[in-house]
Amino acid sequence: MLSRTAKASFFVIAAPMMRINGALYRAMRAPRSGAKAHLGPGRKRYLPGWINVDANMFTGKCDVWTDLRYELPFLDNSLHAVYSHHVVEHLPNIRAHFHDIFRCLEAGGIYRVGGPNGDSAIRKFVENDKSWFSHFPEDRRSIGGRFENFIFCGREHLTILTESFLRELLEDAGFVDVTLRKPIVDSGYPELFADALEQEHESDMDCPHTLLLEAAKPI
Ligand SMILES: C[S@@+](CC[C@H](N)C(=O)[O-])C[C@H]1O[C@@H](n2cnc3c(N)ncnc32)[C@H](O)[C@@H]1O
Repeated sequence: MLSRTAKASFFVIAAPMMRINGALYRAMRAPRSGAKAHLGPGRKRYLPGWINVDANMFTGKCDVWTDLRYELPFLDNSLHAVYSHHVVEHLPNIRAHFHDIFRCLEAGGIYRVGGPNGDSAIRKFVENDKSWFSHFPEDRRSIGGRFENFIFCGREHLTILTESFLRELLEDAGFVDVTLRKPIVDSGYPELFADALEQEHESDMDCPHTLLLEAAKPI
């Protein structure tokens, strides 16, 4: 994993170029309707048939190199679906990000969003179940240390995601039919997200590590 300082330096240096690149894509190449956007595919989760958007073009593959902290590189009402998995917790303003996703989705468009499950982590912390937590990114012996690892991930994550918090932000952005889903197996739109569902992983279906919600832009 890149050090926090290296990542921060990268974002300071590359942010203006990423913003220009995103603006150019939006002005010249962004689809007018019916597209599917995958935000933050990372190193291994590029989805063919989707427009994959990421800041990391060095160790991963993306179609649009831009910074998700700012406006998305898409036209209003142009996307049929948006998928993001373990990305929003890295962003400083999830409220603004959700409003922008709402802007880009067409009426009836669907957003599937997932990230570290704060509700599950709190439950396992209270149960003192150290085995639920991994040793990533640091090797920790205590339940508190492992909980901190999970929530803040070496200070990569800027917030804690819980169902009620994400639901509040999605509803405030205008989304309806906000529904909690189980990773891998559960979607109200299995055909739309078939490729994404195949890539999801979850070792504990009773107390999932990933919190997943789906929401719709009203018709
Ligand atoms: C933890 S990885 C998740 C990767 C993949 N979605 C998964 O579930 O394994 C977070 C991804 O979000 C991207 N990301 C984080 N902050 C970003 C930003 N401000 N702009 C663009 N991409 C960002 C990272 O480059 C990385 O690919």
